[in-house]
Amino acid sequence: ALIIRHRMRSSGRWARAMAILKEVDEKSATPISKLRQVADAMTVEMHAGLASEGGSKLKMIISYVDNLPTGDEKGLYYALDLGGTNFRVLRVQLGGREGRVVKQEFAEVPIPPHLMIGTSDGLFDYIAKELAKFVASEGEDFRLSPGRQRELGFTFSFPVKQLSINSGTLIKWTKGFSIEDTVGQDVVAELTKAIERQGLDMRVAALVNDTIGTLAGGRYYDNDVSAAVILGTGTNAAYVERAQAIPKWHGLLPKSGEMVVNIEWGNFRSSHLPLTEYDHALDADSLNPGEQIFEKIISGMYLGEIVRRVLCKMAEEAAFFGDTVPEKLKVQFILRTPEMSAIHHDVSSDLRVVGKKLKDIFGISNTSLKMRKVIVELCNVVSSRAARLAAAGIFGILKKLGRDTVRDGEKQKTVVALDGGLYEHYKEFSQCLETTLKELLGDVSDLISIVHANDGSGIGAALLAASHSQYLEVEEP
Ligand code: GLC
Repeated sequence: ALIIRHRMRSSGRWARAMAILKEVDEKSATPISKLRQVADAMTVEMHAGLASEGGSKLKMIISYVDNLPTGDEKGLYYALDLGGTNFRVLRVQLGGREGRVVKQEFAEVPIPPHLMIGTSDGLFDYIAKELAKFVASEGEDFRLSPGRQRELGFTFSFPVKQLSINSGTLIKWTKGFSIEDTVGQDVVAELTKAIERQGLDMRVAALVNDTIGTLAGGRYYDNDVSAAVILGTGTNAAYVERAQAIPKWHGLLPKSGEMVVNIEWGNFRSSHLPLTEYDHALDADSLNPGEQIFEKIISGMYLGEIVRRVLCKMAEEAAFFGDTVPEKLKVQFILRTPEMSAIHHDVSSDLRVVGKKLKDIFGISNTSLKMRKVIVELCNVVSSRAARLAAAGIFGILKKLGRDTVRDGEKQKTVVALDGGLYEHYKEFSQCLETTLKELLGDVSDLISIVHANDGSGIGAALLAASHSQYLEVEEP
């Protein structure tokens, strides 16, 4: 009798756990009709954000980049890329049309977590110090033209109200950053002061978002690149707009007639987004409640955390991992997206990678194959929703560009440059994104392509530093 009672109890638990999974799956559903609504809402918001400052959740930030790299850029330039869990410094010797990238070197440095929530000086001093170290290691095969000051392209991947190509004030922090005293400050001035404190002689020639850097880096190699998307710790996109289609731009019309716009799509939100109770709870507990909703259901910082929250509910309400809830399962952000990806990609017949990860991350052992399958399925639900929504966002941009149909028989090719760890390393995610985009595009899908702009943003920032160098006008009137 005891055994039977136990079996009944465990089958009831199993049913409850399955019901939880089923509910997440249903609430996360993204049928193609819904994706089209999301894309339409994205285009509507893009228009509104271009019309007036504060006209939309989408900031549609004017980047002051009205010319993208041509290939003629020449000389030694530095770039500094801040925006995720690591920051990167890079130097590149540009050889002009013939030579292109003659030589490049980079270093990657993790940002100590306490600096992400500390003080402005603390963060910028740390960065400037690493930059100074990197500059000191410059070898003889890099050549700065005599009498010149070193110049830097600063990729700062947060929403910035750009004031010129090399100045801009921080609107708010996103992702894991929250440093009160930087908000409202000119981040170039902050960095410049820190560089001076290090006794380093260097000037910031361009301040760019990572999407803008990626667009510039992509365009350097391919003239058809018109948009860039980041899918990493955070998510965002930029594209080339006609300057005349930006009512809120009151400056001179650029010669090119174009202006690159940073959408800040992470802050997109719409009643069409399929949100679950887990998303609402994650948002409420976050550093920036109510903000970056699109980002919170798509990007690498959050996907693992969504999965953890569902598992936690299964543990609490269906005793999925036994009578007690494993302590580590309650720790926020303990399941990082790269680990989730490893779980999702386990192809072994007994799902032993899943088993090992559950043990290593949560201290959960003795999971059955059946349980592991459920967990893999959960990863699939969470990552497919993200990938499909990202595809809808890209489709929205293509609509805004008028590239979603063939107009006047003109078969123009469009390339979208993509970068970021989520896109690069989570294969199920990137494949799902690509098939969904194809499906949305239908007939025109062979005119649109996606390229992986591998660290395009670093090179892109260096290229923009080159084209906005203080020496340019003197030497090339
Ligand atoms: C966040 C930032 C945005 C950045 C994106 C990708 O959404 O607000 O500026 O481009 O992350 O790094």
